[in-house]
Amino acid sequence: MTERATKLIIVLGYNGTGKTTFVKKIVMNELKHKRRALIVTPDDIEWNTIEMVNPRFPERIRNYVLARRLIYEDGILPIIANNYRNGLLIFDDCRAYLTAQTDSDLHNLLIRRRQKMIDIIAVGHGFTEVPPKLFTFASEIVLFRTIDNIDRRKNVLKDFAAMQAAQARINQKAEKNPHYFEVIPQV
Ligand SMILES: Nc1ncnc2c1ncn2[C@@H]1O[C@H](COP(=O)(O)OP(=O)(O)OP(=O)(O)O)[C@@H](O)[C@H]1O
Ligand SMILES: [Mg+2]
Repeated sequence: MTERATKLIIVLGYNGTGKTTFVKKIVMNELKHKRRALIVTPDDIEWNTIEMVNPRFPERIRNYVLARRLIYEDGILPIIANNYRNGLLIFDDCRAYLTAQTDSDLHNLLIRRRQKMIDIIAVGHGFTEVPPKLFTFASEIVLFRTIDNIDRRKNVLKDFAAMQAAQARINQKAEKNPHYFEVIPQV
């Protein structure tokens, strides 16, 4: 099988802007086309209509069809890297669990995702609430209203000035429509 381009989408927005709603639409579209999705969440609050998969049975991660979810626990990233393939992998609200400690496991997953045909969507509340490494691999950033200081990601953003302008523009539009967002390609 030939390798295809894989996507890494970062979705950023303050509380309640509509990130999970946006990602759910992408997931529903994938499922309609009979593709797979694995959703990692910090807790049991969102995505609870989706059946869980038990990480102690990695063959279940390899073989299920359509969508499953996992509540993050230590050691789960290598299990995902070794068993999940051909589908969308979502890290919803990742600030709680993608930390300095998970950096090397995350790196490993990012560099192996092409062979495994895994597209990734990472969701966070702002630029400083997702690991810096993700920006260097990102194919697009979906930006809702954010309130954090983007300067702290200056050295990993591909076009810092464009992103600053986008943040200001989006925050202004969000005054009228709190669910406003733009998709900013990272090429
Ligand atoms: N485009 C939209 N138009 C109208 N309402 C929306 C839209 N997107 C989301 N909402 C509503 O806004 C609320 C928050 O949406 P959602 O849970 O997707 O936000 P979130 O960014 O994931 O929040 P959190 O940061 O708490 O995880 C929900 O009630 C949702 O139905
Ligand atoms: Mg959410």
